Order: sequence, then C-alpha cells, then structure tokens
Amino acid sequence: MNGKKILDEQLTYYRARAPEYDEWFMRTGRYDRGPEHRAEWFSEVAILEAAVEPVVKGKQVLELACGTGRWTKYLARWAAHTLAVDAAPEALQINKEQIRAANVDYLEADVFSWLPEKTFDVVFFSFWLSHIPPQRFASFLQMVRRALKPSGHAFFMDSLFEQASTARDHLAIDKSGFAQRKLNDGREFRIVKVFYEPAILEQRLRKDGWHGWVRSTGKFFLYGCMMKPAEIDEQ
Ligand SMILES: C[S@@+](CC[C@H](N)C(=O)[O-])C[C@H]1O[C@@H](n2cnc3c(N)ncnc32)[C@H](O)[C@@H]1O
Repeated sequence: MNGKKILDEQLTYYRARAPEYDEWFMRTGRYDRGPEHRAEWFSEVAILEAAVEPVVKGKQVLELACGTGRWTKYLARWAAHTLAVDAAPEALQINKEQIRAANVDYLEADVFSWLPEKTFDVVFFSFWLSHIPPQRFASFLQMVRRALKPSGHAFFMDSLFEQASTARDHLAIDKSGFAQRKLNDGREFRIVKVFYEPAILEQRLRKDGWHGWVRSTGKFFLYGCMMKPAEIDEQ
C-alpha cells in the first residue's frame, strides 16, 4: 500500500468515525473497560490538562488535526486565539457545534500539503503524531517550525503502546506502524499508527534542534513541549 493510499483511507476512516470519535476518549461503547480503567484513564488525562494550560495561556495557537474538539475546548478556554485545522469536514462541524467560541477559527485543510500563512506562539497537536507516516515525519515538523514564531513551542500528546487503549473488538495493537480499525457499524479500515517511546522521541527531536521534553503520564499517554530550533532558515 503506498503512502497516499493509506493516508486517504485514514482520512476516510476519521470522516466516518467523527460522530462516534468521542467514545474513545470518554471510554464508552466499545472502549468501555469498566470504572477502574476509566478512573485511571482520566487521572492521566488530568496530567495532560495541567501541562497544556501554562503553555497555551494567553497565546496565539494553531491546532493541527483538531478533530471533534476534545482539546479545542481547553484551547478556547485558555489561549487568546486558536486556529483549528482538520481535513475532515464532519469533525470540524462537530467541533464548531460543541465549542461555539468566538476566539476559535476553523480551517478545512490537509496538513500534509497546507502551509500556514502566519506564525503562532504554539502549535498544538493531540493524537496526531502517531498517524504521520515515518517518511513524512520530517516534512511535517518542518511545517510546524515554519508555523512557529521565534521561541514558539510545539505541544503534543499521543498514545503510549497500551493494549487497553483500543476498542475491545479491535485486533491487538502492534509496532508495525499500522493498525486495523473498526467503526460501530463493523466497517474496517487500515490506518497509520506509530507508537513512540518518550525518551526516544525526545532524543530524535533534540537531534533536529528542538529544545524541550517528552514525558509519559504513566500508562496511556505521552506528551511533549518543544521549543522551535533557533537557527531555522525561514525562507
Ligand atoms: C486521532 S484524531 C485526533 C483528533 C483530535 N486532535 C483529538 O485529540 O481528539 C486524528 C484527526 O486527524 C484528522 N486528519 C486525518 N488526516 C488528516 C490530514 N491529512 N490533514 C488534517 N487532518 C487530518 C482526522 O480528521 C481526525 O480528526
């Protein structure tokens, strides 16, 4: 399967999944693994929330692959302004309806080809890094760099390699770089899913000149805050 084909299938999946997307985050439906699991999940979500607030407070934020707004909600609350970008009109529609914030603007765009027209204090992307094919990792980060003001920060969060994160009826996750996903109606899709180990991801970004850290919340998530490399050629 070539890179473009799987990215098209991935987007088709997220467009179809938009109305049921939040079941994953809320740990309901096929993601319901009981109260103990849910409590553990949300205690780690609280770590993410606490980390996001000081980074985006009062800032101009670009949110890439914003989805249905699980994190746009917090950006709307804490940031001065957010431009929320996603390629799925279905996700953008839900996001707009749920957030209804005057300080959030929306843009439908494919982040693999879109180039920002202005710069931001923070570029935020949640649960998106793992869906970037490894061969596009460098060009994606180059776009993030271009989107940042000098001394701007990229803040991201993503899934750790944890079987209990996925739906009960999904195949076990593996480290192939791909995942087989199902919708509630049984339709199946193949998507990109790359699991990163926080220390290795941090090392990789530091090698490219980013300054900052990548941490684990314990079991479910990684999150990172990296300052843009100083010596970038902005042309
Ligand atoms: C795993 S979801 C994450 C959504 C959201 N950031 C969150 O944390 O809930 C991935 C998102 O990427 C979007 N997406 C997929 N391919 C895209 C592309 N090429 N350009 C922009 N967004 C894309 C999907 O529509 C979906 O909303």
